[in-house]
Amino acid sequence: MGKWIVFSAWPYINSEPHLGTLLHLITADYYTRFLKSMGEEAISVSGSDEHGTPIEVEAMKQGRTPVDLTNEMHKRILGLLKQFSIELDNYSQTESMVHKEFVRNFYLRLDHEGYVFKQQTVQLYCEYDKIFLPDRFVVGKCPFCGYDKARGDQCENCGRLLEPTMLIDPKCVLCGNTPIKKQTYHWFFDLPKLTEKLRVFVSGLSENVKFYSLNMINEGLKPRSITRDNKWGISSPFPGSEGKTIYVWMEAILGYLSGVKELELNGRSGLFEKYWKSPDTKSVYFIGKDNIPFHSIILPGLLVASNDGYNLPKYISSTEFFLFEQLKFSKSQHVGVWANEALQIADGEYWRYALLSLRPERGDSNFSWIDFQKIVNNDLNDTIGNFVNRVLKFVSEKFDGIVPEQRQSTNDDDKFISKIISKKKEYIDLNYSLKIKDAVRAFLESGYIGNEYLSNQEPWNLIKDNYNRACTVIYNSVQVVNHLGFMMSHIMPIKSANLLAQLDLEKFSAELTWEAVKPGHRINKNKVSPLFSKIKIEKV
Ligand code: MF3
Ligand code: ZN
Repeated sequence: MGKWIVFSAWPYINSEPHLGTLLHLITADYYTRFLKSMGEEAISVSGSDEHGTPIEVEAMKQGRTPVDLTNEMHKRILGLLKQFSIELDNYSQTESMVHKEFVRNFYLRLDHEGYVFKQQTVQLYCEYDKIFLPDRFVVGKCPFCGYDKARGDQCENCGRLLEPTMLIDPKCVLCGNTPIKKQTYHWFFDLPKLTEKLRVFVSGLSENVKFYSLNMINEGLKPRSITRDNKWGISSPFPGSEGKTIYVWMEAILGYLSGVKELELNGRSGLFEKYWKSPDTKSVYFIGKDNIPFHSIILPGLLVASNDGYNLPKYISSTEFFLFEQLKFSKSQHVGVWANEALQIADGEYWRYALLSLRPERGDSNFSWIDFQKIVNNDLNDTIGNFVNRVLKFVSEKFDGIVPEQRQSTNDDDKFISKIISKKKEYIDLNYSLKIKDAVRAFLESGYIGNEYLSNQEPWNLIKDNYNRACTVIYNSVQVVNHLGFMMSHIMPIKSANLLAQLDLEKFSAELTWEAVKPGHRINKNKVSPLFSKIKIEKV
């Protein structure tokens, strides 16, 4: 057993989150539950990414202060987390005092270690709006791939990190005019100095992340500016940098550290050293692919440069895009499903299952309403729900709620048992290799195997003329309900708690052994009821 720290990308909270954003939080919650139930020590951290220009712009549009907007949105997110059964150890916010302090001290240390330099730069200045334009206030053509709506910080098309001045034919997003170049000065993180160390580090990452990051290193790392001329943000700590703030990415990424610090300050002493510095702690980051360079290059770069003994990321699990009815999710074009709409259609737990089973791990995943309906009706209701309910009703009605004993086994039973056990092993192994979509598939397949067994064995006939066989079949089926419940406790924790209550058990067993529920155990007959219900097409 080991120590694990599980992270999800911190979402920007300038507007209602869509399902693609929730996916990482759900995955982190799922994975932490999985680890804990395997007896691992694990903590999970994420939070609201509250600074940055999109929030500043949004607040401006609404005629309010950014902090007013983010406080409201953060509360909104906390409510959503509950509705999607997401219970991280800490879901913080980048406006937290602990975070701001941590970030400022971190950069002072980085400066002390010789990784920060001040430089005159040329920056885009809008003569109409009379401001230096921060990254996201500029759009133009990507110098690498030619995409013509690239933002000043990153090209959405090829994912490369940019500086606003790299854009071809730049425009101010506020007024549409072409900005001019003007002299100013900023503080920079000397990333090129870390090139060789980072090359070694990224070589140890998983395939797609490694490939992408090595490519970036081979193209040549550039110094990254730490400061910005935005008002909304964490004020820069460098002497002489008054009035400037820290670039949102350069501080939000440190939330992974400050979020643990905060837990420690809230009474869990020793936690920070234990999870960030002891070399046997494994970290997992659940992120979207557009966030890769920040996690595979910038974060490890900052950690190494600080020379403070931090563990580097161990697993970076990035997803491809979610398409919506074959189109890319987009806030501006309103393509996609938003959290509030999703909850009107189905319970948060159904969404957890649907999103995990569609998780775009190897390529883009398409979300369609027809598929969603099938997922709920066929997978959850007809396969899992039906199996569990048939078995528990049988125990209630034919055995007065008492789990029968195994009396007379056949070859078919043995084959069935080994199939179920190997599915459970598969589920566990796949999770440890971060193949979550496939793991969730193993859960569904266990349901198929269970239903097939019932249809072949027909316990409803056996009970009439072969009582011993009926006992055996139902005994075996109850064990499968335990295995399903174990997986369900990570995928759909509330449903699994409901199932536990029906079974009247303390917890589901993680063991790969067969007898998890003892013969003679009395289930809670009065509570037996279907776990899921179908959704109707009109609703979607
Ligand atoms: N807010 C960013 C996004 O939504 C993700 C930040 S991740 C963290 O793309 F590293 F800053 F935590
Ligand atoms: Zn590009």
